[in-house]
Amino acid sequence: MENKGTKTLETDRLLLRRFRPEDAEYMFRNWASDPEVTRYLTWPPHENVNVTKAFIREWIQKYEELSWYNWVIELKEIHEPIGNISVVRLNEETEAADIGYCMGKAWWGKSIMPEALGEVIAYLFDEVGLNRVAASHDVNNPKSGRVMEKAGMKLEGIWRAAGKNNQGICDEVWHSVLNDEV
Ligand SMILES: CC(C)(COP(=O)(O)OP(=O)(O)OC[C@H]1O[C@@H](n2cnc3c(N)ncnc32)[C@H](O)[C@@H]1OP(=O)(O)O)[C@@H](O)C(=O)NCCC(=O)NCCS
Repeated sequence: MENKGTKTLETDRLLLRRFRPEDAEYMFRNWASDPEVTRYLTWPPHENVNVTKAFIREWIQKYEELSWYNWVIELKEIHEPIGNISVVRLNEETEAADIGYCMGKAWWGKSIMPEALGEVIAYLFDEVGLNRVAASHDVNNPKSGRVMEKAGMKLEGIWRAAGKNNQGICDEVWHSVLNDEV
């Protein structure tokens, strides 16, 4: 494998690109301030846009590291950031990455996240040369599992009481896909 960093990716409906400072207002309004979006996530909803600005500032600095993969999801039709997809854990020994994602409620149910995840998986296999891409979700958030399945991941199993999010300690459902399966 060879880390390549957060390069711009494109699908039919989406531009996956690096965050820019001017994305803060959209990120705050479209997803980061909504407790329904963060219900099964590990971070609390942002109380004001300054919280969002601080995160984006930190992420932009990290783009210098080629092992940092964090895309804002821009919907081409409206030229607006609507969500985020990133590598939340990278294990260079096993050439494996875990992915996390979230998106504003207004765009749920249109198969947008499977489109983004499929593109990220292809990039991590074809360009970076990873061998395994995986993701987990709270057992009570099955629609995230559907995203994984629609993007080609297979069910691995459940890690009992292995995760903690805004709902407390939870059972984690794991899915993965291996390079030679796509
Ligand atoms: C989970 C999430 C990324 C799904 O993205 P999406 O682009 O809406 O995914 P899809 O359109 O493929 O829908 C996935 C499933 O959600 C359910 N769903 C569809 N529309 C929905 C809606 N309007 N409201 C709630 N659930 C819906 C369906 O079960 C669907 O599966 P199906 O296509 O087999 O019917 C999105 O809901 C989200 O950002 N949630 C908040 C953050 C989060 O939970 N992230 C994952 C943490 S592990």
